[in-house]
Formats: sequence, structure tokens, C-alpha cells
Amino acid sequence: MTTIDRYGVMGYPVSHSRSPVIHRLFALQTNQHIQYELLEVAPDRLEAAVRQFQRTGGKGLNITVPHKSEVARLCDQLSEPASTAGAVNTLSFREGEIRGDNTDGIGLLRDLAINQGITLDGANILILGAGGATRGIVGPLLEMQPSSLCIANRTIDKAQALAEHFSYSGPVSACRFNMVPVSEEYDLIINATSAGVRGETPPYPESAISEHTFCYDLSYGLKPTPFSVWAREHGAARSVMGWGMLVEQAAESFHIWRGVLPDTAPVLKQMTITA
Ligand code: ATR
Repeated sequence: MTTIDRYGVMGYPVSHSRSPVIHRLFALQTNQHIQYELLEVAPDRLEAAVRQFQRTGGKGLNITVPHKSEVARLCDQLSEPASTAGAVNTLSFREGEIRGDNTDGIGLLRDLAINQGITLDGANILILGAGGATRGIVGPLLEMQPSSLCIANRTIDKAQALAEHFSYSGPVSACRFNMVPVSEEYDLIINATSAGVRGETPPYPESAISEHTFCYDLSYGLKPTPFSVWAREHGAARSVMGWGMLVEQAAESFHIWRGVLPDTAPVLKQMTITA
């Protein structure tokens, strides 16, 4: 009897996740036989649920909100991006061990560079928000040698702590939403707050946008997100949602698990058409 390798996404809540659809499309495209489940797991059951998945022969998991930091404690090995970010979005179960990776950063970089044609070398970057999503992308963004990277947050202490954590890897600073430095134009503004998901539109810094600014919302939705609407209304050059990052980070996870990198273009097209 042939067994089908099991994968899944664990989060709370998780019913909205597009990962099962994306991984099924990748599997079809690359001729891999896999099963991919949605696993809704409350924080107090995280460890038990991961260990049970491992014990029953599961091969890999995607980990999403709110478990990305907590799950790092359960890993026997962490990749360099996961260790730098202090957050894990991909688990692999091999030979009794749990390996944790983080493909969010590379997913964002691939979307920006390949799908959107954005050059980060020498760019001025502003990130809004200083939570888990920001923690996952600052390291990879700094590796692309931007001129500056400023983290703006409602709660300044969190932005300062992140800027300090990453200060050894590049020109990173912190500020409040209403004190964003505007001596130079921003080439890229990334919304990494969870405000939109909560249906809120904070006082995003209008002075940071010019007609050269590319605005990127890590969130995505069936309709334009509040941030992408705000960016368009304030004259951004372009404003996009994070569908590309979602598909690219999934492709990197698929590669880790199956050793084959799917072609993301047709899957991205299908996701945004059906969105
Ligand atoms: P995630 O893991 O998705 O990044 P998080 O760690 O809870 O989630 O972080 C959420 C981020 O969105 C934080 O930067 C938060 O700002 P605070 O640190 O000040 O809480 C930001 N955020 C959420 N709702 C917001 C709002 N209405 N206005 C401004 N910032 C908001």
C-alpha cells in the first residue's frame, strides 16, 4: 500500500488560510502526491498538536498566527533565517527531529524582485508595525543593502527593540507613526501592522508617500485592504497586497519539503483571479 505524505497548516484561527489550495496546486503541477490539512489549534494545545502530528507520521507543517514565535521552542534545529527572526513558519519532521525554517523573508524578497520588479539595493524603506511580521522580514530586507530602513510603530518601545536587535546587520532606525523622518523620499513602504485585519485604519504617515513610492501590504484580501486604499488615495506610485509573498513563501516551504521548487506564476495568477 502506498502512503501519501501528510502536510498541513496550523494556526488559530486558520479557516481563512489559502495554503491548502496553494499546496494542492503546487503538488498537481510538480506531480507530487501529498495531502495538506487545515489544523486549527489553540495556543495552549500547540505543543501537543505538533508532537501528535509528528508521531502519526506527518512530514511537515506551515505555522501561522499566533504560533510562529512559540513553535521555535519545539524545534531541534533552526535555520539561520528562523533563528534571526525568532519565528518559524515551516516545520519539517525528519528522523525523529523537528527542523524550523522561516520562508516569509525570502517569499517577500522574491515577490518584490521577481514579480514586482523592485530594486532594494540603495532604497529607502519604511516598515509600519513592529510585531512578528516585521521581525520576519527585517533581516532579509537588510541583506539587500538598502540605504535606510526605518521601523515605525504606534508603540515606540517595540520598534526600538527591533531596530536594536537588527542594528548589526544594517542601517536600521525606529520612530513613531507621527515622527517618520522624511528628509529623503521612501522607495518602499511596507504595512506589517495587523490593523487592517482588525478593520482599523491607523494614522499612517501621509508625509512619507510620494509619487515614487511603492506601497506593499503584507495583508491580502478579497477586496483592497484599508492600507492599499490609503496608499492609492495618497498618491503612491503603486500599491499592492501580499498575495505574491503568500505564494512565494509557500513555494519555498514546498521546496524544503519536496526538493522541487514550483513555478509560482500560474498559481499566483489563479489565486488572484479567484480572489
Ligand atoms: P503580527 O505577528 O501579525 O505582526 P503582532 O505581533 O500582534 O502581530 O503585531 C501587530 C502590529 O500591528 C504591532 O506593531 C501593532 O502595534 P503596537 O505594537 O503598537 O500594538 C500594530 N497594530 C495593530 N493594530 C494597530 C492599530 N490600530 N494602529 C496602529 N498599529 C496597530
